[in-house]
Amino acid sequence: MPRPTTVFTCASCGHEEPKWHGRCPGCGEWNTLAEEARAPAAPARRGGGTAVRAASARPVRLADVQAVKIARLQTAIGELDRVLGGGLVPGSLVLLGGSPGIGKSTLTSMALGNLAGAGRRTLYISGEESAAQIKLRAERLPGAALEVPVLAETDLDTVLATLDAERPEVCVVDSVQTLHAGDLTGAAGSVGQVREVADRITRLAKARDIAVLLVGHVTKEGALAGPRVLEHLVDCVLQFEGERERTYRTLRALKNRFGSTSEAGVFEMRQGGLVEVQDASARFVGEATRAPGSVVLAAMEGSRPLLVEVQALVSPSELVPPRRVANGIDRNRLALVLAVLGRHAGVGVGSADVFVNVAGGVRVDEPGADLAVALAVASAARGVVAGSGERPIACFGEIGLTGELRTVAHPERRLAEAAKFGLTPTVAPTGAGRGAAEAGTLRAALRAALGAAPAARAA
Ligand SMILES: Nc1ncnc2c1ncn2[C@@H]1O[C@H](COP(=O)(O)OP(=O)(O)OP(=O)(O)O)[C@@H](O)[C@H]1O
Ligand SMILES: [Mg+2]
Repeated sequence: MPRPTTVFTCASCGHEEPKWHGRCPGCGEWNTLAEEARAPAAPARRGGGTAVRAASARPVRLADVQAVKIARLQTAIGELDRVLGGGLVPGSLVLLGGSPGIGKSTLTSMALGNLAGAGRRTLYISGEESAAQIKLRAERLPGAALEVPVLAETDLDTVLATLDAERPEVCVVDSVQTLHAGDLTGAAGSVGQVREVADRITRLAKARDIAVLLVGHVTKEGALAGPRVLEHLVDCVLQFEGERERTYRTLRALKNRFGSTSEAGVFEMRQGGLVEVQDASARFVGEATRAPGSVVLAAMEGSRPLLVEVQALVSPSELVPPRRVANGIDRNRLALVLAVLGRHAGVGVGSADVFVNVAGGVRVDEPGADLAVALAVASAARGVVAGSGERPIACFGEIGLTGELRTVAHPERRLAEAAKFGLTPTVAPTGAGRGAAEAGTLRAALRAALGAAPAARAA
């Protein structure tokens, strides 16, 4: 059998070179060539060119395909199973990304522990921690976390051989960036290595029907380290996010071949591991303040409504340009909302610093958050408490560039969630339904939430 050869592929243009170059001869980009293993090409036969080299295969009509209904593996972590689309599919590959210390190892250890407790064959492979370190974590986790067999190893060949010999039903590889393929020269975690590691694990997992949870680190920018091709390779990409200092974490599916990507799970990090948060709305509403600059956003976390507090502070600044700080929402979205507030609703923040924060470390990535940001900023700028009475005011809606308020998905679920906590009427776009104080424009929404207020103080 001829040995696989190595080539250097440009991550930018795909150009291939037999030797490494600092600059790609194909596209001229610097530092884009990464080493990859290549199976040697089959020797050309006589009559090559376009000649067919293999026997043909018979395509099957879809209706005649025998599809066996496979039972999913339940991790018994409700939020994780829901995000996966009802549990782990045997033989599937799931990539779990998240920033350092967010709880990736904790979540995967807990899932394996539960599966081991349910009598499943499991294996935890760690290239990051020693067996003793993994045990320390497992000791504080509930369930059968201590029953899980572990292997502390970084050599890819050893890992694959062990997987082949042990044949677990579910296995965790923590992390894809720490494994090293001996036949490639690059350091562990380099683009070529990560690609090779994921590719070979995938092939073995599919052949042996092993469900694999691949843990991956994310870069400072929030993208999964390693090439985007990893995301194509796996069946499911999960993102574990939140701020390390805060207790709340959300788990989202960015890609899922076996379920919806609109699901999200909320967790809290505690001494005994990650705890599912089913009543997140109740906590956030309970913690919401009744002060200028605070409103409640009726957001959607996947198909589930979630009430979160959005806070804003507008304060005079000496800085040029003034600060625009956004935590938990997109910074560009904040710039847009401030521009529309100034241009179409008479709330100019001018040279003041503006800080916007979603309480609890939650991140909201949906246009429906616009109105909450606008109301929080306007309330802070005017020094007026939004809404009247004891309870905070809730709202949702997208803001258009001409100052109009636009409908967002699932208005009825958002209104029902707000009503559950007595936050009625909820300020919402026209047509939202019962329980809403409907507004067609941002100006009308401001009137509904803040009343006819004097001109903005910070203008
Ligand atoms: N005794 C404890 N009580 C409460 N929380 C703890 C305790 N020990 C660890 N943690 C939390 O667990 C987090 C680490 O979790 P974990 O090791 O699962 O993260 P990770 O995402 O795997 O990190 P890494 O990227 O380093 O592998 C810590 O940041 C801390 O918040
Ligand atoms: Mg870890």
